[in-house]
Amino acid sequence: MAQQIATNITWHEHHVSKAERAGLSGHPGSVLWFTGLSACGKSTIANTVDHMLHAQGKRTFVLDGDNIRHGLNKNLGFSAADRAENIRRIGEVAKLFCDAGVIALTAFISPYRADRDAVRALLQPGEFVEIFVNASLETCEKRDPKGLYKKARAGEIKGFTGIDDPYEPPQNAEIVLDGDNRTIDELAAEVVEYLTTHGRLSL
Ligand code: ADX
Repeated sequence: MAQQIATNITWHEHHVSKAERAGLSGHPGSVLWFTGLSACGKSTIANTVDHMLHAQGKRTFVLDGDNIRHGLNKNLGFSAADRAENIRRIGEVAKLFCDAGVIALTAFISPYRADRDAVRALLQPGEFVEIFVNASLETCEKRDPKGLYKKARAGEIKGFTGIDDPYEPPQNAEIVLDGDNRTIDELAAEVVEYLTTHGRLSL
């Protein structure tokens, strides 16, 4: 866990409150945390939910693993420590979006339960919606859109999640999606339905 290093810094209270920002959005901020194996469908489902919510006039933004690793987190690899730092930073960024009254959708493997729980602990009850995209390794490996499972099996990539690196499934995810048998549109609709019935899309 990162330590506070800087001294002589003061926390500024914002003059526009979180509730006022949510008021402008017409809904509270949330963090929709998609987790699951590489190629399980996290990004595709998150982007479909993003489109559906945007079309309903909701304020949304997607933070995606592969993209964030080209910028903010370009200095991180795939060791357990680097994955923890990856998730810590994304958690902090997602919290800022949430405080701004935006629904942040994150799509990261986030293989370690402790790292995901640390993000949950940053947020208020109800704000963090953990969404486990439960697709079997067999399904993900069959899809292999980037050819990375093939490389991992050939020993060309070391420490690949699901092959020779762990994935710890959530034990109490708010939503578990069947990534093996359902279409992307069905799964995205399931997420929107949850958000609607749990009061995340209105005030
Ligand atoms: S996480 O474990 O730190 O959450 P993240 O979601 O940011 O991972 O990045 C995963 C993506 O990086 C995968 O979808 C894949 O494209 C790529 N990748 C490259 N090397 C690895 C690896 N060793 N394990 C998992 N994914 C990897």
